[in-house]
Amino acid sequence: MADMAAPALEVSQVTMDFGGLRAVERVDLVVRPRETVALIGPNGAGKTTLFNCITGIYSPTQGRIQLTAADGRVMALKGLKPNQVTECGIARTFQNIRLFQNMTVLENVMIGRHCRLRSGIFSAILRTSAMRREEAQVVKESYRLLQRFGLARHVNEFAKNLPYGAQRRLEIARAMATEPSVLLLDEPAAGMNAQETQELVTMINQLKASEGLAILLIEHDMRLVMQLSDRIYVMDYGKLIARGTPQEISRDPAVIKAYLGEEEQ
Ligand SMILES: Nc1ncnc2c1ncn2[C@@H]1O[C@H](COP(=O)(O)OP(=O)(O)OP(=O)(O)O)[C@@H](O)[C@H]1O
Ligand SMILES: [Mg+2]
Repeated sequence: MADMAAPALEVSQVTMDFGGLRAVERVDLVVRPRETVALIGPNGAGKTTLFNCITGIYSPTQGRIQLTAADGRVMALKGLKPNQVTECGIARTFQNIRLFQNMTVLENVMIGRHCRLRSGIFSAILRTSAMRREEAQVVKESYRLLQRFGLARHVNEFAKNLPYGAQRRLEIARAMATEPSVLLLDEPAAGMNAQETQELVTMINQLKASEGLAILLIEHDMRLVMQLSDRIYVMDYGKLIARGTPQEISRDPAVIKAYLGEEEQ
C-alpha cells in the first residue's frame, strides 16, 4: 500500500523568513511514490514559497528537505541550485505559466529532455556532429510525450500561440520530460474554464498511473482537489493547520475557519 512506502519527498521542519516575515514556519510534509497530495490554503499562506524552498529557488532558513530516488538513494536538497534539484528528480510547473514563448512546442519539451543527457543543452545549441544522433532520439521521445499530453498536433507551433489550457498542459509535459520522481504543480487549473479543467483532471489521472510518480499539487479549485488527492495538507499564515484525507479535511473546523476568514476580508 502507498502508506507503507518510504516517502519520495520529505520536508522536515522547514522555515523560510523574508526579513521580518516568516512565510513558512516549521512545515513537515511527505509525499510517497504513487501518491497525489494537495497543498491548499488561503492566499499568502506560504504554499508557493514552500515549493520554492523544495526546488532550490530559495534556501530555507531552517529545516531539511530530502528526496529518495526509486533506487533507494537518499538526497539532501537544501542548498542545491534549481537545476541540480531537477537532476535529482524533482520537476515543477509555475503559478504563472513559464514557457519559452518564442520556441516551438517541441523545443520546449526538448529542453526538458536535455537535463537527462550527458551532452547537455550547450552541445545541443552548438550542434556538434557527435550530438546529432542523440538529438534525433530526443526529438522522438519528446514527440511521444507530446502525443501523450494531446499536444502532438501543435508540435511546430510557437508556445505563445497555443490556447491557454494547452500551454498549461505543455508546462506539465516539459516537467515530465525531465523524468521526475516527484512532480510539483503550482495551481495547474488557474485560469482554466470548466472543459480545460476537466481535461487537466484526466491528464493528471493518467500521470498518477506513471511508474512510482509522486505528485504534490497546490490548487484553489476544491472540486479538482477533492477529485484527485489521496491526502491533503492545509497551510495558513505559513503553518500547517491540518492534514488528512479529502473527507477529513472537508469537515475540519480549523480549515473551514481559515477559508471563511478569507472570504470576510
Ligand atoms: N521573495 C519574497 N520576498 C518577500 N516576501 C515574500 C517573497 N515571496 C513570498 N513572500 C511573502 O510570503 C508570503 C507567502 O507567499 P506565497 O506566495 O508563498 O503564498 P501562497 O500560499 O502561494 O499564496 P497564493 O495562493 O496567493 O499563491 C506572502 O506574505 C508573500 O507576500
Ligand atoms: Mg502561490
